[in-house]
Amino acid sequence: MENPLLHPFAFIYQLIQWVLSNLFSPDPPKPGAKLGRPKIAIIGAGLTGVSAASHCVGHGFDVQIFEAGPRKQLGGIWSRVNNTSGLQIHSIMYRFHPSVTWSGGYPNRQQIVSQITELWKRYGLESKTIFDTPVEKVYKDEKGRWIINDTSNGRFDGIIAAVGTCGDAKMPHMPGMEKFKGEIYHSSDLTGKEAKGKNMIIIGGGASAVEALEFAAHEEAKKTYILARSDKWIIPRNPVVDILLSFNIFGGETPFSWIPETILRKFFYRDLQDLAPTDKGLFTGTPMVNSDVMDKIREGKAEWLRGDIKGFTEEGVKFNLRSKGVPAGGPGREKIIKGDIVVMATGFDRPTLNFLPEDSFVDPYSPPNWYLQTFPPQHVSVCANNCTYVNAIGSVGNWHIGIYTRILLMFLSDPLTRPQTFWMERWIDMTRFVKRFAPTGAFDFFTYLELIWWFMFCIAINPFRWKWAFFVFFGIGHALPKSVVNAEDRIRNGLGVKIGSNYDVGKSF
Ligand SMILES: Cc1cc2nc3c(=O)[nH]c(=O)nc-3n(C[C@H](O)[C@H](O)[C@H](O)COP(=O)(O)OP(=O)(O)OC[C@H]3O[C@@H](n4cnc5c(N)ncnc54)[C@H](O)[C@@H]3O)c2cc1C
Ligand SMILES: NC(=O)c1ccc[n+]([C@@H]2O[C@H](COP(=O)([O-])OP(=O)(O)OC[C@H]3O[C@@H](n4cnc5c(N)ncnc54)[C@H](OP(=O)(O)O)[C@@H]3O)[C@@H](O)[C@H]2O)c1
Repeated sequence: MENPLLHPFAFIYQLIQWVLSNLFSPDPPKPGAKLGRPKIAIIGAGLTGVSAASHCVGHGFDVQIFEAGPRKQLGGIWSRVNNTSGLQIHSIMYRFHPSVTWSGGYPNRQQIVSQITELWKRYGLESKTIFDTPVEKVYKDEKGRWIINDTSNGRFDGIIAAVGTCGDAKMPHMPGMEKFKGEIYHSSDLTGKEAKGKNMIIIGGGASAVEALEFAAHEEAKKTYILARSDKWIIPRNPVVDILLSFNIFGGETPFSWIPETILRKFFYRDLQDLAPTDKGLFTGTPMVNSDVMDKIREGKAEWLRGDIKGFTEEGVKFNLRSKGVPAGGPGREKIIKGDIVVMATGFDRPTLNFLPEDSFVDPYSPPNWYLQTFPPQHVSVCANNCTYVNAIGSVGNWHIGIYTRILLMFLSDPLTRPQTFWMERWIDMTRFVKRFAPTGAFDFFTYLELIWWFMFCIAINPFRWKWAFFVFFGIGHALPKSVVNAEDRIRNGLGVKIGSNYDVGKSF
């Protein structure tokens, strides 16, 4: 704990986290404790998989984690990025499990991996994780239980797919690349690279580009050019602003979107308003969260250029500079941008969910158009936690990982809460209707408050789920709904009514 006199804010933050941890963290299972069914297969040992597994075992459900990579990839994408990478949003929005305790507002990569590893150990998940095991297919046995790859891995009642959205580094080939005399790296491969006094060209205008710019500043590069083919919104690195923006419950553009956009232009972009998109609203894509980028441009240390890459030359990149409003590929002025290092901040391939049964991908109910964006309507025992999102304002690592996990546990534990495919599809249709005027697809963009609204609707619409509300939202009060379900089971048995063992067959709405 920080000294309250020397660091009062840090002390208060740590105190808040201590209280949250004590109130909402389920107790880790005792060593050697026998965990019960339903048993969940968790695919991926990034922060989502580890957090979801901790919630499951903390509530007495057995799990097995399958991770494609080796042990050193525990922590998922954070185990594979630069040492200079860190959180752009404030860590208060990135408490991916109630027991996570951040020592500061903006933890770096190592601190994030260490929190994931500590969580993994705290909940006894070492013996429940198989590394070097990519999941290639999942299918059901005759009793409706899930088999992961093959029968040697056992049988499972539910699946949490936590494969993330950032897979392998994307390195598009560009004409003339082999001619370039300098070095070319992907933005996630900058650890140990020398940039002092060099000119750096960053291709791409997303969050990784901004991070590469931070690397350039840290390494004292001479000048950095960011070559972006489209404009994206940048929002300040300020938790109050970021949380307020995620409070747009409509989860998309509204007639009032001009208000935050104008405020951002006037008070954040100021003299750099040319960088702010005019072709897309703020609530249409994931914004970048950064304040330093503006300062670097103002100081003349960086230039943000809009246009199209024509190819590489020996000395740099041939670039067609476009004015604002001119579409990609439109007319402009060609220029050679000279540089010593090119950083490809061109993103990551999305990990596939193809291991799921084919009927999970039937249009118009293919991801992200699933129930609560996460449950394929044909398979409510599958929760694709955090890996179907496209764009959002909020955070990938927060409260919702636990909520999604506990909704799955509720569906598996209580047959009367389990929705039918028909009703899940109606919810998807309803959300599409409500968001029919949104410039993006209904599930292609959401805000954190909209997500909370989805959860509340899910619980409120079905009286059998009401008893689970505290459990779903806060992870507490599991005993009461469990005892009600046991009583219901006894009544059903007494009446001779059988509920099938197939967890995908819902009877409810
Ligand atoms: C540099 C960087 C900075 C970021 N900063 C932020 C930020 O500030 N705020 C924010 O909200 N988000 C940020 N993100 C997004 C980040 O992806 C998420 O925050 C979060 O780490 C995702 O965790 P995850 O566990 O869902 O996925 P991952 O961390 O990607 O983990 C998925 C795991 O699943 C495994 N896997 C994949 N497929 C299979 C399979 N078929 N079988 C078995 N295992 C499989 C992978 O090997 C991997 O270990 C950042 C991303 C990057 C790259
Ligand atoms: N600390 C952070 O907050 C942080 C840091 C890094 C990453 N992330 C997260 O990680 C994910 C990936 O981010 P990212 O920035 O790596 O990827 P990204 O958001 O997909 O951005 C990639 C950028 O590269 C451009 N691009 C791709 N292919 C190109 C090509 N062939 N020619 C020219 N430009 C090309 C894209 O342009 P178009 O947009 O026009 O396609 C885009 O500007 C996001 O979810 C992001 O939020 C977060």
